[in-house]
Amino acid sequence: MAQPRGRPEISRLEDPAWRAPAGDVSDITAGTETMRTPRALSTYEDVISKYQESRPMSIDIASEIDLDSELVLDSTAAAALFLEARTANSWADEEITDETLQAVYALTKMGPTAMNIQPLRISWIRSAEARERLVTHMADGNKAKTLTAPMVAVLSYTNEWHELLPTTAPHAASMVPMFEENVETRNAMAANNAHLQAGYFILAARSAGLAAGPMTGFDAEGLNAEFNADSPFSAFMVINLGKPNGVVDRARLHRLDFDLATATL
Ligand SMILES: Cc1cc2nc3c(=O)[nH]c(=O)nc-3n(C[C@H](O)[C@H](O)[C@H](O)COP(=O)(O)O)c2cc1C
Repeated sequence: MAQPRGRPEISRLEDPAWRAPAGDVSDITAGTETMRTPRALSTYEDVISKYQESRPMSIDIASEIDLDSELVLDSTAAAALFLEARTANSWADEEITDETLQAVYALTKMGPTAMNIQPLRISWIRSAEARERLVTHMADGNKAKTLTAPMVAVLSYTNEWHELLPTTAPHAASMVPMFEENVETRNAMAANNAHLQAGYFILAARSAGLAAGPMTGFDAEGLNAEFNADSPFSAFMVINLGKPNGVVDRARLHRLDFDLATATL
């Protein structure tokens, strides 16, 4: 019987086969997340293959459907954006030019936001001095890669996006006084839409030939005091960027199957 949405197959997640043997995982706390990661990749792969024997889950959607006949992107683009792109922890030793960053933003800004509010604000961390200040606030597990990435972007949202409504959404300009009063609504809309824009940013970076390493493992209060003091900006994500170096440092984690993650009503 199909599982109702919102009640995923909990039994799958509780399946002992999914848990690595005690002592073979380590806990990494990054921001609000505690991740259990394998110490030995071979052990991890054993666990995954055992799990897949009993309940197949795919990490390669191309094997499930004929993507080529469904997509308007050619397969090289689909691979570069989704199928082969990986979250990066190390990069080629090559500088990222301002022109490339401008290209990344040129694509990012075109992704849709509610009422076209565009709350995302980006700080490019280029100088060694700014990098040192940033790394101080990163979770321990994120410090080394943030120090060595060719470029780092601090993503913030502004909660004063409503002031630009007459330009970004002239049809909604009359709503400025209402939003001026509603700080909570403004904050929620800013956070939601800036997170959407962060997704566009990652795909834009991949489109420009960069490998992205998004992170939420940092002390947001400290980072805001350091970079966003006396501003309406709140930092919510830090993204390391660089040219890919071909290093794959861990196995791909499972992606949820169509039947588990979706329902047709
Ligand atoms: C919003 C967000 C926050 C993340 N935070 C961290 C982090 O703090 N530290 C880290 O090492 N990885 C972090 N990651 C990386 C994810 O674990 C990684 O993107 C995911 O497992 C997919 O990996 P893949 O692209 O190689 O398949 C974050 C990713 C996202 C999208």
